[in-house]
Amino acid sequence: MNLDAENGFCDLHLHIVPGIDDGARTMDASLEILRGLYDCGYRHFVATPHADDHRFTYSRETIDAGFAKLADAVAASGLPIDLGKGVEYTYGERLRRDVTDRTAMTLADSRYVLLELPEEFMPATMPDTLFGFGASGYYPVLAHPERCKPFQDDVDALSRLANGRALVQVSFRSLAGTFGRTIKKTAWRLVESEVADLVATDCHSPRELRKVVQPVMKQLRRRLDAGHLNRLMSAFPRRMLTTP
Ligand SMILES: [Fe+2]
Repeated sequence: MNLDAENGFCDLHLHIVPGIDDGARTMDASLEILRGLYDCGYRHFVATPHADDHRFTYSRETIDAGFAKLADAVAASGLPIDLGKGVEYTYGERLRRDVTDRTAMTLADSRYVLLELPEEFMPATMPDTLFGFGASGYYPVLAHPERCKPFQDDVDALSRLANGRALVQVSFRSLAGTFGRTIKKTAWRLVESEVADLVATDCHSPRELRKVVQPVMKQLRRRLDAGHLNRLMSAFPRRMLTTP
């Protein structure tokens, strides 16, 4: 990715490779999302289709082919943005295998691996598992941990888990209230108390662009000072992708 260009927000989590997962269904929808995010101030994106053991089991080649088509469409559109490739792993066997084999699909060829944790309970072995990812050369990024029940009751438990082992990425969808009041409250608490290292749109559709992204962007600008917003959406993600 070319991150030297101009400043701008950097979205490390969105579902815009058409027809691959439950995200954008068509190339037109993907481009509509990207145009809308451009208008919100985004310039850099890492597309992150789901990858798991049951529902989104497509191969690496399928992801590569889908991403290549998206990259071609973006180039043809003339939209001056920068696009990288990643996946959002569900915590499970596929992730463990890829990490063990050191073949994990990282965010834009960085060492950061995006993963979503189980939502109902936290395995007692999770700190060891995350530490093990680090020992294999990867750094986990926890996607929307505000959706995990154990952290809604005890935000400090998330700080303890992530401390030195993982980054915390809160999602726009949670901040918008898509998953209910408890998750929304937890998400804002993580952001405002600076437990969150990153916020990402996790945008799946043009509808979410209007119902989720644009309203949350307004609220973030109102509730956070400019320096904090810049760290969450530009400086930190930029540093992640440029640090070898
Ligand atoms: Fe996602």
